[in-house]
Amino acid sequence: MEWTRKYPSMYVIWIGPMQVRVMLQHPESIKKILTTADPKPIGYGQIYRHGIPWLGERLLIAGGARWKRYRRLLTPAFHFDILRPYIKIYKSCADLLVRNIQTYSERNESMEISSLVGSCTLDIILRCVFSYETDCQNISGKEHPYVQAVHNLAKEWTRRNSSPSIHLDFIYYLTQKGREFKKNCDFVHKVAEEVIEKRQNTLENNDMSSQTYWDFLDILLTAKDDDGNSMSKEDMLSEVDTFLFAGHDTTASAISWILYSLAEHPEHQRKCQEELDRVVDDTDSGDLEW
Ligand code: HEM
Repeated sequence: MEWTRKYPSMYVIWIGPMQVRVMLQHPESIKKILTTADPKPIGYGQIYRHGIPWLGERLLIAGGARWKRYRRLLTPAFHFDILRPYIKIYKSCADLLVRNIQTYSERNESMEISSLVGSCTLDIILRCVFSYETDCQNISGKEHPYVQAVHNLAKEWTRRNSSPSIHLDFIYYLTQKGREFKKNCDFVHKVAEEVIEKRQNTLENNDMSSQTYWDFLDILLTAKDDDGNSMSKEDMLSEVDTFLFAGHDTTASAISWILYSLAEHPEHQRKCQEELDRVVDDTDSGDLEW
């Protein structure tokens, strides 16, 4: 934070003599990266290497021409018409989160907000990515095995990144945690594979135009590149896992920090409340519009 104040545009950190991080924090310097038409560079940093057994080298981790191909294949997934029906999913998951927070507040108990928010964003992404319902926001029940595996994978990936003694694969996979990481990878891959196969069969026998909304998996199954080639099953598996990870951990972190900051600054909280009251129709019809 000190360096961010001192160098508001960007700064560089050297981690030993070999690794460098370029930190961009000003909107103008970030804009330069975001608006470039160049593909992502080939090669990935150490932090991504440890996620490859889980996510594979696809949209997040691939570079160069491979990245460009995946990016083109997946661009339709971000079309407004695809995203719009997800609003109902966000709303029903957010209602569950609010109910959970209310339970603690009625008992006058404090709560650990990031895990409640993390279960909510995972609930949302599981439903949007492959219409997978897990009841993962049920605070009285046991965590769903798939949700438990995803949480453990994300936690373990972060732990490994900050522990140089387990950076080398042949050491890490000899440890108990390393073996668990491998087991969790196999488990989440198996679940995603089963969902993909089931959906493939449904697609072959059904007319997609009658569906009320397309989830991310539908987009993957129908995506074709410029030469008319579809995605392989391995590509689909990796993209499903990539979106699950990229779409829930980030948003959980952002929402948790926003809630924390709003709690610390009641005057801003009041302004947000006023704005929400002004723009959001709370008739509970579920028909929220952008
Ligand atoms: C507050 C929320 C989010 C933050 C802060 C965030 C942050 C980032 C950052 C920094 C990257 C660049 C990583 C790199 O190339 O090294 C990235 C890429 C990516 N994010 Fe997010 N993200 C957020 C939400 C999401 C959501 C909701 C999804 C999916 C539903 C998502 C999917 C992706 C994907 C697929 C990539 C790779 C894109 C590419 O390289 O073409 N992210 N995100």
